[in-house]
Amino acid sequence: MADTNKKDETLRRHTDLVPTLPSRENGGVTNKEVINDQNTLLTSSSLKGVMLVQQNFIALPTDILLATYPKCGTTWLKALIFAITNRSFFDFASHPLLTNNPHGCIPTLEGLVQNNNASTTLSLSSARLLATHIPCHLLPASVASSGCRIVYIFRNPKDVFVSWFHMKKLMTVKEEELPPLSLGVDIFCKRVNHFGSYWDHVLGYWNANSEFPGKVLILTYEDMKKDTFSCVKRLAEFLGQPFSSEEERDGVVEEIVKLCSFEHLSNLEVNKTGMLQFTANSAIQNNVFFRKGEVGDWRNHLTDEMAARLNQISEDKFGGTGLMSHIN
Ligand code: A3P
Repeated sequence: MADTNKKDETLRRHTDLVPTLPSRENGGVTNKEVINDQNTLLTSSSLKGVMLVQQNFIALPTDILLATYPKCGTTWLKALIFAITNRSFFDFASHPLLTNNPHGCIPTLEGLVQNNNASTTLSLSSARLLATHIPCHLLPASVASSGCRIVYIFRNPKDVFVSWFHMKKLMTVKEEELPPLSLGVDIFCKRVNHFGSYWDHVLGYWNANSEFPGKVLILTYEDMKKDTFSCVKRLAEFLGQPFSSEEERDGVVEEIVKLCSFEHLSNLEVNKTGMLQFTANSAIQNNVFFRKGEVGDWRNHLTDEMAARLNQISEDKFGGTGLMSHIN
């Protein structure tokens, strides 16, 4: 996917650029934040991914791009998109999702351009299945000009925060380096995250949905939980592969819903004990992608004050857009 010379040149530009960018610290916890030229807070490593994607990725009209802010349901949607688009190639009894974590089934663009391992995808679909956490306005121009399809899922920010904080807890080697929950809320509210502000991320794709009708499908984690069956049918239609009446009669939609359910995936051996190789030097345990899989778990973790602070930002950012009704 990435031409080696072009990639090396981008990496050199990144190395030169980072020290010239202003840093932002928050409670001494995150000290690698940089503001890129489009005024979005990114970590140095995310900025590297963004630059590599911008320089090395050219979207095709047939591409299917799953875009998410971390912890909004990426793993679930990767599994569903893979299962829907590959349903004619695999039997449910010996499906790749039984032995591979969903992240091994659909590669993340930022990782792909860094690793140069485009061939590792397990998909047999003629469409390229790709995922990204990159904010909408930082995607390469070819994504809009190619007319490729984008699926975006978002979730109540209070649950996103709680999910993110737990992941951070799991990934923090030294307990003393984990910020207290209140500082975690502060970090989240101040947009200090790998891919910038949750609220700006959602707004970017929400606006793209109006700008490119029929090319962006917006889903919410809450709707998916409430009625997975209908959402899967909607997803298949959007992807240009609606279920036939024969498939519906044979229970294919139900099979896909069951295969990709939290209960099923999280109990598979591969997801309980397996590891995912993200880059040549970094691997992650598959079980970190599965925690509770519930709506409203924030109530068990956040104080009223923390919840009110997150609600206020949502109202300030989303007020008048129609987004509030999706996250309440
Ligand atoms: P919780 O931490 O609230 O449990 P992402 O995949 O974007 O990192 O999001 C992770 C969140 O999605 C976690 O939420 C995780 O438990 C949940 N999740 C993972 N797989 C899921 C599935 N198949 N169905 C529903 N939720 C799932």
